[in-house]
Amino acid sequence: MKTKTFLITGATSGIGYEAAKQAVALGHTVIITGRTQDKLDAVSAELGVKAYLADSADLSAQFDLGEKLKKDKVTLDGLVLNAGVFYPSSFVEETPEQFDQSFAINTKGPFFTLQALLPCLAKPASVVFTSSIAVHKGFVGGAVYSATKAAFEGMVRTLNLELADLGIRVNSIRPGITATEIQAKAGMTKEQEQALFDSLQTTPVGRELVSDDHTGAILYLLDDASSALRNAVIEVDGGYCL
Ligand SMILES: NC(=O)c1ccc[n+]([C@@H]2O[C@H](COP(=O)([O-])OP(=O)(O)OC[C@H]3O[C@@H](n4cnc5c(N)ncnc54)[C@H](OP(=O)(O)O)[C@@H]3O)[C@@H](O)[C@H]2O)c1
Repeated sequence: MKTKTFLITGATSGIGYEAAKQAVALGHTVIITGRTQDKLDAVSAELGVKAYLADSADLSAQFDLGEKLKKDKVTLDGLVLNAGVFYPSSFVEETPEQFDQSFAINTKGPFFTLQALLPCLAKPASVVFTSSIAVHKGFVGGAVYSATKAAFEGMVRTLNLELADLGIRVNSIRPGITATEIQAKAGMTKEQEQALFDSLQTTPVGRELVSDDHTGAILYLLDDASSALRNAVIEVDGGYCL
């Protein structure tokens, strides 16, 4: 893999953080974003990467980021649209505000992040979206989350057509259940988390996934080795959905 420049959104923990760490270890230049300044400062110092505060739900922050990168003459060979949340709620309890918040972060955010960063993308450039197995696997409390990821995946076909002349391709990974901060942020207790992970012992891989299980797929989609792929989905679920 030639050394390149990648921007990874939501890289202060979990899947995005591991991808950033491995990309840096391979000699790539990495820029990260997140929504929590302290965490950005810590990862920036640890990995030696530039970090920008850019809440996915704040569209002006995405366009400000695009302006900053343009000013610094940054050209991105790859963009990983990874920032996301899982705020579970049952169908009967979901409020319009919760519905809008999930879509703002998981769907509208990455859509406008890509639009805002278009001028910074190289020709060719690879965009990777972190989707979820939830697009085709039901979870109690996960209706809106599933829809946020399916909505973005639904747009990827058209993005591949509309951005082809710019040399931009878009593909996705669909992680299965992965032990990250997402469970605690979803309000799960340690016991609930453990029970969930224990239930995965019967899957082919026999365990919960860890963030680094996704790094290879992300780096492959960023690499020229996958340059013929458009709208591909790499499902990294340990066989959970078989
Ligand atoms: N873990 C799983 O089981 C699983 C399964 C399928 C798909 N996914 C997807 O994988 C992606 C990464 O999740 P993860 O499991 O690695 O969880 P994570 O450890 O919570 O990481 C999520 C990252 O996104 C950031 N983020 C959250 N909301 C944001 C916002 N509004 N603006 C900017 N950044 C924001 C987080 O920052 P803070 O730390 O400040 O919140 C963090 O850096 C998500 O898109 C998630 O939907 C995860």
